Amino acid sequence: MSQQFDVVVIGAGPGGYVAAIRAAQLGFKTACIDEFKNKEGKQSLGGTCLNVGCIPSKALLESSENWERIEHKFEAHGISVTGAQFDVKKMLERKDGIVAKLTQGVAYLLKKNKVTALFGHGKLLAHKDGAWQIEVAGEATETVTATHVIIATGSVPRQLPGTPTDNKLILDNEGALAIPEVPKKLGVIGAGVIGLEMGSVWKRLGADVTILEAAPGFLLAADEAVAKEAQKIFTKDLGLRISTSVKIGEVKPGKNNVTVSYADSEGKEYSETFDKLIVAIGRVPNTWNLAADAVQLPLDERGFVVVDDACRTSLPNLWAIGDVVRGPMLAHKASEEGVAVAERLAGQHPHIDFNTVPWVIYTSPEMAWVGKTEQQLKKEGVDYRKGQFPFSPNGRALGLGETAGFVKMLADAKTDRILGVHIIGPYASELITEAVVAMEFNASSEDIARIVHAHPSLSEALHEAALGVDKRGLHS
Ligand code: FAD
Ligand code: NAI
Repeated sequence: MSQQFDVVVIGAGPGGYVAAIRAAQLGFKTACIDEFKNKEGKQSLGGTCLNVGCIPSKALLESSENWERIEHKFEAHGISVTGAQFDVKKMLERKDGIVAKLTQGVAYLLKKNKVTALFGHGKLLAHKDGAWQIEVAGEATETVTATHVIIATGSVPRQLPGTPTDNKLILDNEGALAIPEVPKKLGVIGAGVIGLEMGSVWKRLGADVTILEAAPGFLLAADEAVAKEAQKIFTKDLGLRISTSVKIGEVKPGKNNVTVSYADSEGKEYSETFDKLIVAIGRVPNTWNLAADAVQLPLDERGFVVVDDACRTSLPNLWAIGDVVRGPMLAHKASEEGVAVAERLAGQHPHIDFNTVPWVIYTSPEMAWVGKTEQQLKKEGVDYRKGQFPFSPNGRALGLGETAGFVKMLADAKTDRILGVHIIGPYASELITEAVVAMEFNASSEDIARIVHAHPSLSEALHEAALGVDKRGLHS
């Protein structure tokens, strides 16, 4: 007799495991299937984010920033360090320790909430008599049934045509997070989020980093002013070499290095040899072998599972969330979709405001934004007002020695409703939450201007940007 569940979630990333916990909290008999194995060959819950994404990358970013502080920042504080060294092996072990703690934490949370964790590859076989049959191919193969299925199978790295990653010389995110020693010359294809975060890590540790980007500009999704400031800091201060409008030609792996041929926008050809090459050119939805042909899983032309605003597919009681569906590929977006689907199954009416999903890039300085960019508002013909305030005169930023960057607030010219907030600077990842809350509650720039902000704090820059919308900044 096969195991029967009310809800089966396929995938235990931040979308899937959170959906499973919430479903169980709401009284559903729930299982969560996941196939990810860590390098010891053991099941490790938490998906891309916890195993080979958000969490390990932030651990390495912090280690490399600490090294940079010793090398370049402590002196200004009157602290001199002699004989300092770093040990990549220890940095990687620390990162692995954080990953182990959190992935084991997910296993604990599933157990605590009475979610059955099933290890193996999940595949939808058929929908019969009101129930889904799902094959779980692990050490043994079993079939379980469920009234509702939530697909949360995430995404995988997009490959360069003809140049598969091997995670020895040509690395995807998994390899980029586990380079055993600092490469002398590191090539990165793609100046997106992973390219910039991982490029920063290895550059700070001493690699000569070249980033090759196909798009005609730098960070086109970000607000232009933020992107311009970031490009200046990354190239001049950090020393990343970033070329845009590049067309990648042949990528030729050698014995110990890899040669990349590429052309610039004028067709001039170049060839560079790197010790390692990171390919970070976006990610694609993961639906490999997810459903039997007869199921006719609805996919769009880019391979995403087609869902409506409530994450419902066109098939009965079949839902999909996270990276495998439309929208930003972000962990917090995946989790909120997971919660919303579970609550919908329980007859509740959750709502996610996709206009207020924050973006953060964890470089130094960090970048964070929510809502519309200035170029989007211009394109849409929206009449807006703008307030911008730099971190350079902010007392807390000066104390921290992190004065690069600014906060920009964009508000509707007539209603004063906040339309977007863009930050580049220290702890932008934390500061952005004030803007997210404000936008979620339809706040105006005046609302932020009239809130008491602690002194001295970085959030005073957001306060001043709000005052600046009405041209009454007190410190500008
Ligand atoms: P995933 O986390 O990809 O989880 C899907 C799980 O399903 C995986 O464990 C997979 O093995 C499993 N699976 C797939 N198919 C099957 C199947 N058929 N049967 C069983 N199991 C299956 N986002 C942020 O918000 N902040 C960050 O700082 C951030 N940093 C990142 C850094 C890197 C290097 C990368 C690569 C990504 C980062 N992301 C970040 C993106 C974030 O990791 C994803 O948006 C998030 O993991 C998506 O969650 P998910 O649950 O949809 O899918
Ligand atoms: P990305 O979409 O951020 O960037 C990919 C870059 O590669 C783009 O700039 C694109 O123009 C470029 N590109 C595409 N094809 C190319 C080619 N053939 N040659 C050269 N350049 C090419 O994707 P990335 O960095 O791979 O990350 C994937 C996703 O993971 C992100 O979009 C994001 O959703 C998530 N992520 C989030 C993080 C965060 O929230 N801090 C950190 C890392 C990843």
